Amino acid sequence: MKELKIIPIKNGTVIDHITAGYAVKVLRVLKIPESTSSVVSVAMNVSGKMGKKDIVKVENRELDPHELDKIALIAPKATINIIREYEVVKKHKVELPNEVVGIAKCSNPTCISNAREPVKSRFQIVSKDPLRIKCYYCDREPEDIAEGII
Ligand code: CTP
Ligand code: ZN
Repeated sequence: MKELKIIPIKNGTVIDHITAGYAVKVLRVLKIPESTSSVVSVAMNVSGKMGKKDIVKVENRELDPHELDKIALIAPKATINIIREYEVVKKHKVELPNEVVGIAKCSNPTCISNAREPVKSRFQIVSKDPLRIKCYYCDREPEDIAEGII
């Protein structure tokens, strides 16, 4: 008997191929559970073609570009699947933004982007795989990128 671990959804967004262990951080970016009214399901440590992965499904909702940029920083290998009437009608990989502006906080407390002036945080991509970013202002590389996401 085939075990049905993952139930298909009718309409909404499936964020698939999330690095195992990162689903909770994706939920945080989507402001779930704090302010959601959507039906959300999470699967962690599911066996995929390339090892373990996490999956997040948000019913009846599509994600905005800002959320997608944040998810790209947390899970650079994630795919976004748009589901309509049970069918995958759109599938794309998340894409790292060219400039990471106003998305993550610099971990250097004395960085100008953390001062009271309205200087927005800004990072440059150092490498994509593994993902490394560094602060445009102070060159600090965050150890845990997901941790700094606002
Ligand atoms: N999915 C879902 N509800 C549906 C259709 C698909 O939750 N009605 C989920 C699947 O469980 C899968 C993801 O959406 O996690 C992508 O579905 P699909 O493209 O059918 O799977 P794969 O071909 O395995 O995807 P990929 O090639 O991206 O790994
Ligand atoms: Zn900085």
